Amino acid sequence: MNFESVDWNKVWKDKRKNIPKKRYSNKYWNKRAPSFSAHAHKSKYAREFLSIIKPCANETVLDMGCGSGTLAIPLASKVKKITAVDFSENMLHHLRDYARKDNIKNIKIIKASWEDDWENAKIGTHDIAVASRSVAIDDLKKAINKLDKAAKKRVYISTVVGDGPHDRKIFEAIRREFITPIDYIYVVNLLYQMGINANVNYISDKYDRIYDSHEAAMNSFYWMLNELTPDEEIRLSGFLKKHLIRKDSKWVIDYKKEVKWAVIWWEKDSDN
Ligand SMILES: C[S@@+](CC[C@H](N)C(=O)[O-])C[C@H]1O[C@@H](n2cnc3c(N)ncnc32)[C@H](O)[C@@H]1O
Repeated sequence: MNFESVDWNKVWKDKRKNIPKKRYSNKYWNKRAPSFSAHAHKSKYAREFLSIIKPCANETVLDMGCGSGTLAIPLASKVKKITAVDFSENMLHHLRDYARKDNIKNIKIIKASWEDDWENAKIGTHDIAVASRSVAIDDLKKAINKLDKAAKKRVYISTVVGDGPHDRKIFEAIRREFITPIDYIYVVNLLYQMGINANVNYISDKYDRIYDSHEAAMNSFYWMLNELTPDEEIRLSGFLKKHLIRKDSKWVIDYKKEVKWAVIWWEKDSDN
């Protein structure tokens, strides 16, 4: 295979066809918003992402697919102004709540999607443009061009390495095919083809999954599985009975989950 002859945007589009449409709808994210937003902006991921950006006090930031403010909330005190954009009203509702509680006044919130006309949506240009775990779009090249155009200094895109946050053991346990997420390397390859020699940093985490009850553990996996058939429900319950162990007054899964993210970034005024 000749690397140059591969159309990496087409490869990306083809891989996207394997992902159930439900997984990237606005409805899906609205439903996930309460659990997703619970601790996101206080996470190791957010801290490490900020240390990669190294933001300056006079800089402006576009946070595309901002969610409930995983990055926007901790960034607010470190930069001049943030424009936080997402198509999920519920995610933005949580972001508004966090901003109000912390008396943050420099986040402008816009409800819009990757696919919208960004001029009409008044998204504007910023020093830094970020898409953290949000490139859930079919035409990646078009999205990258939009993000790149919206940035004067630097662009950051993060996405999964390998299985990302998905636990393939759960899929095996319920006997459902595991569809590997689209690895970050496809983004790097496409960028290379677009003439952008990107830098890559990695954020890893290995954590315990701790729950109050068996039911809470069951609920925590629904985001990954969407709807379960009655048989899958029984198998998931059986898997958890086997793997949940008592620790203090909580329940813990008897193996840790490792998650790795790639932060892909480039500077605008280099040779790109
Ligand atoms: C995994 S969350 C990431 C949130 C946050 N950036 C973070 O890193 O924690 C993905 C976010 O992208 C948003 N999103 C997904 N597809 C989108 C689209 N087509 N247009 C705008 N936002 C989108 C979702 O609503 C969700 O808030």
